[in-house]
Amino acid sequence: MPSINVLGTLLTLLGLLSILMDYAMVMGQQNPPQTCPPPADINPCVCQVKKNGLDILCEATDIVHINKAMSALKGKSPIIFYLKLRHNNLPKLQGFIFLALDIRHLTIHNSSLAAIEETSLSSLGKGLTQLDVSQNQLMNVPSSALKNLHHLLILNLNHNRMQQIHNRAFEGLDTLEILTLYENKLTSIEPDAFRGLDKKLKRLNLGGNELTTVPQKALSILDTLKKLEMQENRIKKIKEGDFEGLDSLDALILAHNQLSEVPANVFRHLTLLNSLELEGNSIKHIDKDAFVGLESNLQYLRLGDNDLHMIPSESLRILHRLRHLDLRSNNISTISEDAFLGFGDSITFLNLQKNDIKTLPPFENLNSLETLSIQNNKLVNIPEEVVEPIIDTLRVVDIMDNPLICSCDLVWFPNLLRDLKNRDDEMTQKKRPMCTMEKEHREYYVQNMPLERMNCKGKKFTPQSLSSSNNMIESKLLLITTIGICFYW
Ligand SMILES: *[C@@H]1O[C@H](CO)[C@@H](O)[C@H](O)[C@H]1NC(C)=O
Ligand SMILES: *[C@@H]1O[C@H](CO)[C@@H](O)[C@H](O)[C@H]1NC(C)=O
Repeated sequence: MPSINVLGTLLTLLGLLSILMDYAMVMGQQNPPQTCPPPADINPCVCQVKKNGLDILCEATDIVHINKAMSALKGKSPIIFYLKLRHNNLPKLQGFIFLALDIRHLTIHNSSLAAIEETSLSSLGKGLTQLDVSQNQLMNVPSSALKNLHHLLILNLNHNRMQQIHNRAFEGLDTLEILTLYENKLTSIEPDAFRGLDKKLKRLNLGGNELTTVPQKALSILDTLKKLEMQENRIKKIKEGDFEGLDSLDALILAHNQLSEVPANVFRHLTLLNSLELEGNSIKHIDKDAFVGLESNLQYLRLGDNDLHMIPSESLRILHRLRHLDLRSNNISTISEDAFLGFGDSITFLNLQKNDIKTLPPFENLNSLETLSIQNNKLVNIPEEVVEPIIDTLRVVDIMDNPLICSCDLVWFPNLLRDLKNRDDEMTQKKRPMCTMEKEHREYYVQNMPLERMNCKGKKFTPQSLSSSNNMIESKLLLITTIGICFYW
């Protein structure tokens, strides 16, 4: 028995070896040393030999010259890894223009392209993986020209003039993984528009268009989609069911639309969602059940640049895994004591900059907080009791641009800064918050307050392990602060 096993293994190895050799030969045949045609033959295009094939660039020319260059390439049947046609005058892509060429990545950018004849691309079906026809004048998806591109992975239609996507516009593109339609003029997407993209599509960018609602019917078949971008549209309302069917979605971007509220259960179907971007809307109200469904996976929530006047704690309490909460540029003036109860434990990043916050309660329930941004508020004081609960985990804190009064209450800040130097060099050196010393009618850097004249007795700002921090001292300021503390003590 063992000898048969040995024999079997040997045979298998031999088999593998011959497969490998075949493979090497095939590769060898497919990749003969590539050579560019003589420059004069393809002028004004230029050709370079790259590892995977030729890299050809034609700029600021016209169809006659491009046709001539393509003909010069045809005889040699090389692999054209990149064919880049940019800033040309190429209103129409003629039939058979690339016939007998093996092009892998094709770019026709900013070339006034308005029409793509059906037979212009069909010969590229076996090799083309990437097609970029951005910044042109296309009014419609060139469906008939695309339908044979059975190996296409990426299709870029950004910056064209499409107003709608008709049913079955992408039929045939079974392998497509990334589709971008950024900055067109889309107002409508027909219900069957994405038919055929339901097997592989991972990313869809519909940003920078004129959509007023979520194209729910069209999207509902895209159950492999991971990232959906719909930023910079005119979406006024989202409602329950809008995202039904997007079972694999990981990131949803609805930033810079015209939403005024987030209703209950609207994201209920997005149970794998990791990141939700809602900044730059006019959101005033977030229903307490708005984030139902996102309990176990949401980690990033961006709500900056909206009209919230409080932290939407009720809706956030179920988000057990939230790490990153961005509430910058809202109209939050007060924070309640239990604002972070229930969801604060996992938060490492909290951004409250550019609000209207006048006082802070102790930052309770934020047991993992590493980065705190509270710059640009109306804080006059930030007593030690406020930061005490987070002082051990904090690595970066920004308190710039607040009307702070210099006081012993703020001594935690220079202390923290010194500690942070020991723990993490990332703490910004550039940002040096100021406070006003009322008695002296002048301003100081907070880390440079004249502690020796401030009579801060009884405050517990123990200069910890000065010897160890001495090694780390880099900035003069820090040194001055340390000396200040030394004098006082
Ligand atoms: C687009 O191409 C034209 C030439 O056809 C050029 O003048 C223009 O600067 C290009 N635009 C961009 C944004 O590159
Ligand atoms: C902020 O809220 C206050 C009331 O709390 C309101 O008077 C003010 O207009 C709001 N500001 C903005 C920019 O919405």
